[in-house]
Amino acid sequence: MHRKVLCLCVVLLLGYADGQAGQQMLNKLACIDHQECGACLSAAPHCRWCADPYYNAPAPRCNDDLSLVQSGCSQGLIQRPLPALWEVVANNTLQDVQPDSLDHVVQIQPQSIRLSLKPRETRKVKFSYRPAKNYPLDLYYLMDLTWSMKDDKDTLVNLGDALTVTLSNLTDNFRIGFGSFADKPLMPFISVDEKRLANPCAMEEHECEAMYNYRHHLSLTDQVKDFIENVNKSAVTANLDNAEGQLDALVQVIACGNRIGWSAHSRKIVILLTDGSIHTAGDGKLAGATKRNDGECHLDDNGYYTESIIYDYPSLEQVYRLLDKYKVNVVFAVTDSVKSYYDNVHQLLEDFTYVAKLESDSSNILKLVKMGYEDIVSVVNFKDDSSNGPVKVQYFTNCGVKGGSMMETTKCTGVEYGMTLNYEAHLTLDSCPEYKKITQKIRISESQLGQDSLELDVELQCGCECEGDQIKDMLLNCPSNSHLVCGVCQCNKGWSGPMCNCSIEDEAASAALEAQCREPNATRTIACSGMGDCRCGKCQCDRGFSGRYCQCKDCERSIENGMECGGAERGTCVCGQCSCAPGWLGSACDCPTATEACRAPAGGDVCSGHGTCECGRCKCDSSGPDGKYSGMFCETCATCKNPLCVNAEPCVSCHLNNTCTDLCTIGDFNYTVTERLTDTDTLKTGEVACILRRENEDGQDCEYKYTYSAATKSMISMEIVIRSKNCIGALRAKLMTSALVIMACVVAVGMIVILIYKSAQIISDRRAYAKFVQEAQESRMHMQELNPLYISPISEFKMPEAYNRDKMD
Ligand SMILES: *[C@@H]1O[C@H](CO)[C@@H](O)[C@H](O)[C@H]1NC(C)=O
Ligand SMILES: *[C@@H]1O[C@H](CO)[C@@H](O)[C@H](O)[C@H]1NC(C)=O
Ligand SMILES: *[C@@H]1O[C@H](CO)[C@@H](O)[C@H](O)[C@H]1NC(C)=O
Ligand SMILES: *[C@@H]1O[C@H](CO)[C@@H](O)[C@H](O)[C@H]1NC(C)=O
Ligand SMILES: *[C@@H]1O[C@H](CO)[C@@H](O)[C@H](O)[C@H]1NC(C)=O
Ligand SMILES: *[C@@H]1O[C@H](CO)[C@@H](O)[C@H](O)[C@H]1NC(C)=O
Ligand SMILES: *[C@@H]1O[C@H](CO)[C@@H](O)[C@H](O)[C@H]1NC(C)=O
Repeated sequence: MHRKVLCLCVVLLLGYADGQAGQQMLNKLACIDHQECGACLSAAPHCRWCADPYYNAPAPRCNDDLSLVQSGCSQGLIQRPLPALWEVVANNTLQDVQPDSLDHVVQIQPQSIRLSLKPRETRKVKFSYRPAKNYPLDLYYLMDLTWSMKDDKDTLVNLGDALTVTLSNLTDNFRIGFGSFADKPLMPFISVDEKRLANPCAMEEHECEAMYNYRHHLSLTDQVKDFIENVNKSAVTANLDNAEGQLDALVQVIACGNRIGWSAHSRKIVILLTDGSIHTAGDGKLAGATKRNDGECHLDDNGYYTESIIYDYPSLEQVYRLLDKYKVNVVFAVTDSVKSYYDNVHQLLEDFTYVAKLESDSSNILKLVKMGYEDIVSVVNFKDDSSNGPVKVQYFTNCGVKGGSMMETTKCTGVEYGMTLNYEAHLTLDSCPEYKKITQKIRISESQLGQDSLELDVELQCGCECEGDQIKDMLLNCPSNSHLVCGVCQCNKGWSGPMCNCSIEDEAASAALEAQCREPNATRTIACSGMGDCRCGKCQCDRGFSGRYCQCKDCERSIENGMECGGAERGTCVCGQCSCAPGWLGSACDCPTATEACRAPAGGDVCSGHGTCECGRCKCDSSGPDGKYSGMFCETCATCKNPLCVNAEPCVSCHLNNTCTDLCTIGDFNYTVTERLTDTDTLKTGEVACILRRENEDGQDCEYKYTYSAATKSMISMEIVIRSKNCIGALRAKLMTSALVIMACVVAVGMIVILIYKSAQIISDRRAYAKFVQEAQESRMHMQELNPLYISPISEFKMPEAYNRDKMD
């Protein structure tokens, strides 16, 4: 063992002596410290492991190819890194819904890929997504049928054909269902007066249904007629408080998939119409429904929720989990008075809920259905289940913007039908969780639909081929408690030491081997360099340290991609120091040596001749005629004409004339031109401001401010954003004065109107308040009559009349 350390020291000394040879030595050093096949092959791409059980040369088993052959390792038993794997298993083209069957809808391409991933490697998987036209829509109306919603029901009944037209305008394949809810039929949410139990609307002198929590009326159907009929048939009910059992009803709607009739391939939307707030977990306890909501389906033959008085209301978190599991979206169509309340609920149930303002009589319900549907469809968001494994997934997309730059995001908004979104998933394996061949399955799917998906079968190449074979050879005697793995005897779990006879739990035995944890000939002679624990002569290093004696610090990570020494392609870690691959420099190997990235798109000198290229970025001189040069390529200064602005001008101009598409090409360069007039923030790094002055079609002098920045790292294409448009002309000036006069008039009239309105409001408020005080008194008295448990706090005692006062005296 000490031989190797000596060798390491010599190699280090030699290494520093000569640059070229130094690199070779570092490469060697990256391998030789590893004593297991998996760790050896993971250390650097050039490391090989000799799995020959008869190998007994002094040189380490983990080494480069040539050294192993020279020291006599049998060729056939040298373990090499496994070849990279990339197999597209399924790649069907995107397909809209066919009129006859739903089986062939394809919204994501490709569908299945098998690939390999080595430690510190990143692989890119491109996929496209296109929302299919006429994708089935399952729409369930969940209606609050408490007394205050009576007129809303009538509105819905009168919709008739208009509903059919609206829905068929959204998709050819729609189905519609209906359910209603009120609240738990328990005190204190309802009155227990006998007459009012049977007809809760007795006060309003109207016949209505006894209180229930949720009732499913109509399973999803394509017959709008049935829907109208069922809504017409349903009866209102009434309760006391203003909060209802929406969540109880929602859980039933989501969980009772078979009764409701949710289809496996459809977009599922619940439109929840209500004017009351929500009872949530805990409120039920007040009424005696104490069991935690079980999130299961409990409907009887008539569609009533049967366990309403046993289970408490569900929590928002439970509802969120169910929405996510069954991929159901909820549109809360609520009246103005509770809208802000539902906006808060939406914050907690984001991704699956939308809030829309319902007129008090639901007259805008069709508009809400259309808007809610379009909102839901316009958001595309990808999710995966990689969090339970070592592979990290990042998503990049341009959200369908032609020529737009790829940004890291999972979510695109404003997606329209027919648009194809191109995504790139970057899979990274930071380090091996253990040195074995493992596979991780990753399923990438759209988060709201969850039906089509891209399945990735990722083989994590952390181990060796030889691990599986059990070479049994009589001549090779591994000591007891050990077995042969890849040519060496490896102690069984719990055992360690040179003879595998030291039990890791046994403190005394461990201590005997402590000398082996000390780095020989080092200035420090503490076991494991003081950075780990010595167990049976083996160091277990603390976080951030590695090496046999924990003598090495972990290597620096690249700021750009977070990987040690910039990832496998850029460098390897050699005992705390990065050894960079050709083409890379820097302490974390994240500076390209090439200066291409420092040249402006239209060519020219490195950093326009006004700076130096350091780590792929220009560092500009401050020696210009008027001070500092600036810009990504030092292309501009305070008084210079910026050549990149001049180059981009034709594209800006043609965008302003509407004579080109968003993608404008000049020579070899692509420009994307967008307008973000509201985006007046300060410039981000990498953005440079330009000004274009020209006349517009009305003959006015206009000043357009725009910025350019690199669309990709290589600056092959540029992004131009128009930030402001300022036009001044004779016509404009005249308009301005008359506009001012008009504005003054409008303000004056407005003030008068506000004053009148305000005084009317004050009078009306006073009246309402007096009425409210009176009503409150009445209702308090009323409550006392109804509640049998009520005991008045006022006690009255009367002196009996027969009592003769004088007797006491
Ligand atoms: C899938 O097929 C399309 C052509 O239909 C091709 O352009 C694309 O590259 C393929 N995807 C993969 C991952 O091979
Ligand atoms: C149906 O869609 C078309 C085009 O998308 C639109 O012009 C029309 O107004 C829509 N009809 C209704 C009732 O929404
Ligand atoms: C609703 O039901 C009532 C009877 O209960 C009937 O007179 C009316 O025509 C129905 N309305 C519709 C639109 O079906
Ligand atoms: C392990 O075996 C070695 C050599 O056979 C012996 O010297 C040592 O005492 C043993 N250690 C224990 C803990 O049995
Ligand atoms: C330690 O260094 C000394 C000289 O500095 C040398 O003689 C000795 O062999 C070295 N020991 C080991 C184990 O390398
Ligand atoms: C755009 O229109 C202006 C006049 O309004 C004209 O001077 C200019 O040449 C046009 N540019 C392009 C690229 O068509
Ligand atoms: C410019 O855009 C076109 C069309 O999208 C594309 O084919 C071409 O490769 C792009 N050129 C560069 C240099 O990016």
